[in-house]
Amino acid sequence: MTRDITRRELLKAAGGLTFLALVPMGRGLFAAKTRRGSSVVYTALPYVQPGSGSAGGAGGENAVIAWQIEGPAAEFAVEYGPTGDYGTRADVSSQLRIGPEPPRAERRNYSARLSGLEQGRTYRYRIREGGARGVVIAAGYLTTRQRRGASIRFAAFGDNAFGDAGERAVAYHAYHARPDFIMNTGDNVYESGRDDEYARYFFPVYNARSADPRVGAPLLRSVPFYTVIANHDVHDYDASSRPLADFDAHPDSLAYFTSMHLPLNGPVSPPQATPIVGAQEHLATFRVCAGERYPRMANYSFDYGDAHFLCLDSNLYVDPTHPEWVRYIAADLSSTDARWKFVVYHHPAFNVGLNHYREQQMRVLSPLFEEHGVDVVLSGHEHNYQRTRPLRFTPGNRSLAGAAPGRDRRVPGSFVVDQRFDGHAVTKPSGVIYITTGAGGKELYDPGFTDRPERWLRPDDGNVAYVSRMVTDRHSFSLFEIGHGGLTMSQIDETGRTIDRIHVTKT
Ligand SMILES: [Fe+2]
Repeated sequence: MTRDITRRELLKAAGGLTFLALVPMGRGLFAAKTRRGSSVVYTALPYVQPGSGSAGGAGGENAVIAWQIEGPAAEFAVEYGPTGDYGTRADVSSQLRIGPEPPRAERRNYSARLSGLEQGRTYRYRIREGGARGVVIAAGYLTTRQRRGASIRFAAFGDNAFGDAGERAVAYHAYHARPDFIMNTGDNVYESGRDDEYARYFFPVYNARSADPRVGAPLLRSVPFYTVIANHDVHDYDASSRPLADFDAHPDSLAYFTSMHLPLNGPVSPPQATPIVGAQEHLATFRVCAGERYPRMANYSFDYGDAHFLCLDSNLYVDPTHPEWVRYIAADLSSTDARWKFVVYHHPAFNVGLNHYREQQMRVLSPLFEEHGVDVVLSGHEHNYQRTRPLRFTPGNRSLAGAAPGRDRRVPGSFVVDQRFDGHAVTKPSGVIYITTGAGGKELYDPGFTDRPERWLRPDDGNVAYVSRMVTDRHSFSLFEIGHGGLTMSQIDETGRTIDRIHVTKT
């Protein structure tokens, strides 16, 4: 007799998943013997994604299990269900990708769509190579989005994957925090967002076979990973230094649109789509693999428990002053009845660091966020941790925010900063809290800024003390816990130590 397995029981298992018959080959690759004696080479082991339908509120719940191989197509079968009986067969599809040069070997991205799911429930999945009677190569579980009223927990970090030690330690501690999902703040892989970089730096760490601070953690096989598109996803440039993806230089570019399976509820044709150039054959291969995800998936929103998340493309080809963006953002934020509202984009609007201070283009959206009751804005880009006091911002001259070439996108303006909120004795904020959590693994910026508030003042901002806490000497991630008592945000460093914590309440 079988019975439902509880989430706690599954989490007790190491990683909640066993990969069977897979042999490490180095460089993040794995091989599995087929029934015919040949080997399938995996460039990405099976990982969980939220799926295009996990948008908005309740209903139409689905999820995606994805994996990637190098070489000729293979036959896979995926079963899933709430118990060890599985019971339902998933639709499996595959698309061609062109590998890095040389030799531009063929790769294939597989995805299995698990549909007809209920919210807040755990499902098991099993993948066979060689068809319905083939060898089981992986078996695992996932938990769908929580309903309204349910407590949730998620980890946020960005600027993470380049094979560095800090990235592995952050992955390990994020895994041990047992998040419902990851909300990455962008630049989840370096340098150029290519398949090859994901295979070498991203999947081996966040989908590691064991949990170890020197290795990483088996997060991706059971925990959905949301992310936003960022500058290192679009890392070629035209003659005017405008960012774009060049498929002649890198035929495996823009893996964001081919590896991720995120909600598809943003603008079908955004006012400024992610620019792509290259030979028609390269572009055609990319477009077929990405399908309706390109360019739409650069912006999306979803609900999880009592929280709403609006995820935006803040790259320098986007003009955030464009009326269509303003309409989209206003419509999205006013359409949800979630108690907590988050906005996530990569380029921080309020950052006092030395590397990306001038990329302030997203400041023009602050009045919109204030009008629609946004609680927290999450960003990365500056490789450290910064938390502002709750603030309200009125932009002044917006001329550099939109169409200007280069990185000088300064938006001067006036601040009203809530100096009473401290997240402990005073927990009800007046204004939006902006958190830069870009200390996920890549080398850290702004040494010597930790606990030096006199260095957090910028003359361009009238030396207004809007940053409340800044830690630049260690990698870290943000853990959010949302329940009936309010919201708690803990910043946890690469040794597992809590280095900042605030509690936020509403009346
Ligand atoms: Fe960045």
